[in-house]
Amino acid sequence: MEIKLSNANPLKIKTNCLVFSVGSQKKLAGTTAEADSASGKYLSKILKQGDLANKAGATVMLHDVPELGAQRILLVSTGAENSISAQNFEKMSHAMAVALSAPGIKDCVICLNDTSVEDKDLAWQARTVSQALTANTYVFDLHKSKKTKGSHFNGKATLFVEDRKNNKATESGINQGSAIANGMSLARDLGNTAANVCTPTYLGKQAKKLSKTYPSVNTKLLTEAQMSKLGMGALLSVSAGSAEPAQLICMEYKGAAKSSKPVVLVGKGVTFDTGGISIKPSAGMDEMKFDMCGAASVFGVMQAVAELGLSINVIGVVAAAENMPSGEATKPGDIVTSMSGQTIEVLNTDAEGRLVLCDALTYISKYKPDVVIDIATLTGAVIVALGNHTTGLMSNDDQLADDLYSAGIDSHDRCWRLPLWDDYQKQLSSNFADLANIGGRSAGSITAGCFLASFAKDYRWAHLDIAGVAWKQGAAKGSTGRPVPMLMQYLLNRCS
Ligand code: BES
Ligand code: MN
Ligand code: ZN
Repeated sequence: MEIKLSNANPLKIKTNCLVFSVGSQKKLAGTTAEADSASGKYLSKILKQGDLANKAGATVMLHDVPELGAQRILLVSTGAENSISAQNFEKMSHAMAVALSAPGIKDCVICLNDTSVEDKDLAWQARTVSQALTANTYVFDLHKSKKTKGSHFNGKATLFVEDRKNNKATESGINQGSAIANGMSLARDLGNTAANVCTPTYLGKQAKKLSKTYPSVNTKLLTEAQMSKLGMGALLSVSAGSAEPAQLICMEYKGAAKSSKPVVLVGKGVTFDTGGISIKPSAGMDEMKFDMCGAASVFGVMQAVAELGLSINVIGVVAAAENMPSGEATKPGDIVTSMSGQTIEVLNTDAEGRLVLCDALTYISKYKPDVVIDIATLTGAVIVALGNHTTGLMSNDDQLADDLYSAGIDSHDRCWRLPLWDDYQKQLSSNFADLANIGGRSAGSITAGCFLASFAKDYRWAHLDIAGVAWKQGAAKGSTGRPVPMLMQYLLNRCS
């Protein structure tokens, strides 16, 4: 899908569909007013008839409007007269993208007539529209024998900009929006891919592929033998029961001077989580193919950062392993030694995410990070606490936590902080090792966070528990691409 901007008068343009935004008073202005006069007041007539509901995102598609170059006119309601909220603008953009998916529409020109959005600039608007258009073209048919064709808008979109001095802002908004949406699509693809295909080795290959497309990304893969030499006994205890070898995948993006300390992203890449010997019930277990969605979001962000060529250094690390029961699997009560030297009593082999992450968190200190953010489908408990709307945020640094919270608000990909106070740390004490890998029934997401915190003492660190937001269940089952928007917003904010 291609999105560009144009300053050419849209009334003259031959296009499949010309889009206008309309406020609640239905007073037409600017280019829409011109289109109305040219068509002999056709648009006002339709609006007077009441065909366009007064709700942000309501749409009406008009065909064969007289005297205009466009085959169709799409009117989109902003739902308010003057300034509208960011959330309503997002609704509008999404509705527009859906309406444009009608068969027969291969190109469109979008004219937003200075719709103003509270606290947001033009670049944000252009970004939101591009993101909605691109995200709405997403189709996952990798495993279908017949490929989906033409059911989504996948043509050329042009954003009309009246005043040339807004070109630069609009252009950067368009680029950001499509890069973020493409990053989300990559994350969704990896999440949706069946676990017999999407193995740790497959993820390693995807990382190599990314660095082939983007020379600014350098990929290094660590094998089980190399991890064993480094003493990653926690990570390797997870893959012990699986025929698929674990991989530690390091993607290094260089967009700034060597002296500029990197942001390090660490993703949980459990390509399938059976629970191991502490096996999960079978109902819904297929969804544990999504247990690598943290890793998938790291891939999505690395791609988006490289596509935009951001002036920062970012390292994406994925701890990839499959959690299976077998004769060689780790057993409850087994004690393993992590790379940090801390010993861990594995009381439940289903609490494996923290085991793969803790060694990755120790390993990445070699990058001398400015901040570290891990992203993981870590606990069912976070769904009990925050439902399927909000990511759980935990951090050892107030500033970093605030920055991520704001990035979540700005991108509408929100998180909420939970405490990591010392009181909780006690729940992880073990009679036999330095640490147990579970902390009992209460505060399950926080004790998981506390566990990770014991391995993240040397730097500013945040943990995102995305178990509730990474995929949808039911008829719309599939990966969401979250929290790519939040992480990209955080990185963009750091760049400006
Ligand atoms: N991958 C799961 C967490 C999960 C569960 C995500 C359900 C989404 C939906 C994780 O590895 C896990 O099994 N966690 C356990 C931890 C427990 C054994 C302390 C959990 O949440 O039940
Ligand atoms: Mn588990
Ligand atoms: Zn898991």
